[in-house]
This record gives sequence, structure tokens and C-alpha cells, in this order.
Amino acid sequence: MHIEENFSLKRYNTFGIEAKAALFASVESIDELKEVLNKFPEATPFILGGGSNMLLTQDLNKLVIHINLKGISIASETEDKVCIQAAAGENWHEFVLWTIAHNYGGLQNMSLIPGNVGTTPIQNIGAYGAEIKNSMVSCEALEIATGNIVVFTNEACKFGYRESIFKNEVKDQYIILNVTFELTKTNHKINTSYGAIEEELARQNISNPNLREVSDAVIAIRQSKLPDPKVLGNSGSFYKNPIIPRIQYEEALKKNPNIPHYNVSETEVKVPAGWLIEQSGFKGKRFGEAGVHDKQALVLVNYGGATGAEMVDLSKHIQETVFQNFGIHIEAEVNII
Ligand code: EPU
Repeated sequence: MHIEENFSLKRYNTFGIEAKAALFASVESIDELKEVLNKFPEATPFILGGGSNMLLTQDLNKLVIHINLKGISIASETEDKVCIQAAAGENWHEFVLWTIAHNYGGLQNMSLIPGNVGTTPIQNIGAYGAEIKNSMVSCEALEIATGNIVVFTNEACKFGYRESIFKNEVKDQYIILNVTFELTKTNHKINTSYGAIEEELARQNISNPNLREVSDAVIAIRQSKLPDPKVLGNSGSFYKNPIIPRIQYEEALKKNPNIPHYNVSETEVKVPAGWLIEQSGFKGKRFGEAGVHDKQALVLVNYGGATGAEMVDLSKHIQETVFQNFGIHIEAEVNII
């Protein structure tokens, strides 16, 4: 294992922000991971996965460990279900494509989400009506303080909307090593109820889609709305969709009768942040090297040379304007570092 000094992280974050790591190690096995942790026992390392959900605003004056653990294996199977364990460093989308190639169902609606398998439980990734918490059985994680390997069951992860225990109670204490998913081998649950998927399938004249057709439809929708980080730096949705009290929503409706919403519970509703941002006039706007994507206002983009600070300034400006216009606070989904 090689430890680099003063290492550029530009290629390791999908926003494409230039920032340096004082020390950088890419680990390919659990032994290598333990070795590097033992070598720098006093330092709290920064754990880097696919770099797809973070905005770097400064050099990291510490040890950065890139988790490059690979491997996909069958943990157990019955006639109609299979449990697949994927190592943390596997690219998420390639893993989803692998499951589809094997005709294993459950992850197809989450095709083309950027990032690696190991970070999926941290924010309970989701798209088009599916979330990791619907298929995840458990994950194994290494406790940094002790080196012990611990199993977190689905329940122990305390999943919520883009939330888990790893963002809260045990933040920065564990390194996820692998994740196990329970997938279907037969009688797949095909969920196309999310509007855009049905429209896309109808456009292709597909009425009874299989896993691949659903995945292809999701890929087509995402490609039409979300910028490819290899072409235009971005981190997917920059904000969470705010969940607000129904009373506040009804109040806001009086001024803006068209605010869309999804029901969360009797007392709460979720409002699409993309709508609030678009209505605030930001969609497609460029501020120097930072901007708001022209096809999905929830996505902030780096046109090339933006610094993390410029991106943060833009994100705050958007938050303040949305608050002035609607009285609704939108919170970043991306980790600002
Ligand atoms: N909308 C606008 N203008 C925009 C964008 C959205 O008016 O520029 C409104 C429209 O009313 C639209 C609604 O927002 O109907 C929902 O838009 P969309 O279906 O694109 O989904 P989203 O709520 O903007 C969420 C996730 C995405 C995920 C999609 C599809 C969050 C924070 N984002 O976005 O996840 O792909 O649903 O399921 O929950 C990500 O987390 O990085 C991500 C891309």
C-alpha cells in the first residue's frame, strides 16, 4: 500500500473541485485498511468512497483513506430470493447492472446513481420510488477506534429520507466494508408508478417491462435531466426535498397555489426543492464558474474552475432566496467539507 503526500483530490470528487489531502492512501483489502489505521492511530481519517456526495471547500489536512475494496458474492439463496454481498468500493451503478444481468430484482429503479456501494447506506440513497432500505439486509463496518468489525442490520441503520445512523449517532466512527442486499430471483416487484418511468416506457411502447427495461428507462430519464459528472462537475441533488408541517404548506399555498407536494404523513408534506429553486429564478443560471443545472434546478454544477467556496456561496444565496420567497428552509443533502 502506497501513502501519497499532498495529493490532489480533484479526480476523486464528482464536483471536480481542486483540494489537497495531506496524506492519501487507497486501500484494496481490510488488512490494508487496518494497516493504515494502525500506522496513524491518533488521526481521525477522512473516509472517501466514490466522492459523489461531497463538496470540498478546503484542503484536508489529514489522512484520507480511499476505500477501494472490491468483490461481489452470493451470501445465501433460496429458490426465489438471493442475498448478494458487495464490497464497499464497488461502483454502485456497475453493481446494479450486474444484478440485472443475473436477473436479480430490487435495485433496478436505482440505476445510474453515482457513487460506490459502501456509501449507499450512509444516506439511504433512493430514486424513482425505491430506497436502499427496501432491499438492504445488513452491512459490515469497521469501528475505527477499536478495529472491530460490526454488523449493522437494516433496522440498526435507522434509515430515514436520506438519513441513517451513520450521519447521526455514529458519524465518522465506522468504515463500511460491504453491504448485503436481498433480491428477488422470480416474481420481481416491478414498480413503475413513479410518473416519469411510466411515461418513458410508454414512449418506448413497453407495457410489461422486465428488470432491464425498467433500468434502461431510469437511465434514459436520469441522462435527460442530470448532468454526467465526467462532463460537468456535480453531486446530484444538492439539497434534500424539505419536509414541512402541513399547516405551513397550506399557508404557503395561499400565496402560491401551485406548489407541488407529496404526502409524508397526516401532519407533514414534502415539497420538491427543485420547484422552489426554479420558481426563484435560478434554473440554468450561471454565476462565474458555478451554476444551477438547466434541466434540474436541484443540481448545482461546476463549469470547470469553481472553488468549493464559490459553490457554497451560490448554495447559500439560493437557500436565502428560497426562504425569502416561500418561508421554507432547504437543507443541503451534499456533505460540505
Ligand atoms: N421540479 C421543478 N423544477 C426542477 C426540478 C424539479 O419544478 O428543476 C419539481 C417538479 O414538480 C417535479 C418534482 O420537482 O415533478 C420532482 O422532480 P424529480 O422527479 O426530478 O425529483 P426530485 O424531487 O427533484 C428526487 C431525488 C433524486 C432522484 C429523483 C427521482 C432528492 C433530494 N432527490 O429529486 O435524487 O433521482 O427524486 O426519484 O430526494 C440525488 O439524490 O442525487 C438524486 C438525483
